[in-house]
Amino acid sequence: MIRTVERADRVEGAPAPPGDKSISHRAVLLNALASGSAHVSNFCEGDDRTAMLGCLRGLGVSIKRVRHTDERPCTDCFYVRGRGPNALREPDHVLNAGNSGTTMRLVAGLLAAQPFFSVISGDRSLRSRPMDRIVRPLAKMGANIMGRGQDALAPLAIRGGSLTGIEYALPVASAQLKSALLIAGLYARGRTTVIEPAPSRDHTERMLGAMGADVHSDWPAISVERSDLFAMDVRVPGDTSGAAFWMVLAACHPSARLRIGRVGMNPTRTGVVDALREMGARMTLENIHEDAGEPSADVVVESSELRGIEIGGDIIPRVIDEIPVLALAASLAEGRTVIRDAHELRVKESDRIAATVEGLRRLGASVDERSDGMVIEGGAALAGAAVDGHGDHRIAMTMGVAGAIASGRTTISGAEAASVSYPRFWEQLHEVTGGAVSGDAAG
Ligand code: S3P
Repeated sequence: MIRTVERADRVEGAPAPPGDKSISHRAVLLNALASGSAHVSNFCEGDDRTAMLGCLRGLGVSIKRVRHTDERPCTDCFYVRGRGPNALREPDHVLNAGNSGTTMRLVAGLLAAQPFFSVISGDRSLRSRPMDRIVRPLAKMGANIMGRGQDALAPLAIRGGSLTGIEYALPVASAQLKSALLIAGLYARGRTTVIEPAPSRDHTERMLGAMGADVHSDWPAISVERSDLFAMDVRVPGDTSGAAFWMVLAACHPSARLRIGRVGMNPTRTGVVDALREMGARMTLENIHEDAGEPSADVVVESSELRGIEIGGDIIPRVIDEIPVLALAASLAEGRTVIRDAHELRVKESDRIAATVEGLRRLGASVDERSDGMVIEGGAALAGAAVDGHGDHRIAMTMGVAGAIASGRTTISGAEAASVSYPRFWEQLHEVTGGAVSGDAAG
């Protein structure tokens, strides 16, 4: 699907990102193992959620959509009936994680501990992403788990077993890997400890703690002992990564003001706020509050004069999903931006270093590709062009934001990929740009 975006004269309004994808996944998966039932509201829209719900249902978990609470209509609400830790059912089909790395890795951690046989697979992109990082430690814990070839690519075949806790130094700062091991650790004999090379998102630890697990975080070590969980209602905050598109659009457009409501502000996710502020973005946080142990705030962003910065080291896992859109901001900033230590971007839904460099160059930016990032000479006058979403939601949306800032008209092929995490993205871009988007969703 092709979307066309024209340069917007003015950017204003209050776009509402969907519920946070990472927190949504954990809210349904952990509640599925708990005793009791839970209500999860503002659950992420998008294809990735279909993948997680499908896998859990395939394991016998009852998850029902709820349209009303006693008091009011409920948007994106689900009711999860916990099965307790040991009542999952052997699936009679291959579990399908679709495009979702989080689904595959977290569910694999769970399957590693189940006394039955299962196979989990996904789409072409997911089947090319490295799974050896979870296969090795889960096998060390005692699971019988294998994938294709040296990188243990999906499909993964798993016969879970009785696991023993291990101490494991993560070779990469990956929240998906950490979470897979912590979930397996809920079932293991003895203690499971993961040691992180840099802080990655901590939603799993937070939620496990709030649900009664024996989890202990003394960074860089996070440990869990075999535990039973108690169901917990979760109101999912707005997706920090989805909000990042609006932050960059407002900061970079010369006539803009956006208010983005109730955005997740977990410090392990707010690298994009820190980076944009360091670049000089005019951004304020209002109405700060906390839901189910996760902080959130309304974010107000206005047109700003940005300058280039260095983005590398420990901030990378805190900003990993926002680097493509930050690279766009950098191409419009004054001076040079260097992005380094971001090798992980090469094994996301696409090779995001190559895809970002290609897209920005087509629009006229001056970008040099590096093995672990890129160097961007700012100050480009971007001009509309034909660009490709590379089948990757974050690349497609970055190009959409670029189109509203670049002169003329930008056409984005593969624009439908946005539905993986943000199905209403094009509609909301259309609204805040006063009608700059054409194509199916804009009507
Ligand atoms: C996620 C962790 C990140 C991120 C992904 C979601 C999660 O990957 O890129 O979109 O929900 O745990 P890492 O495993 O590289 O941290």
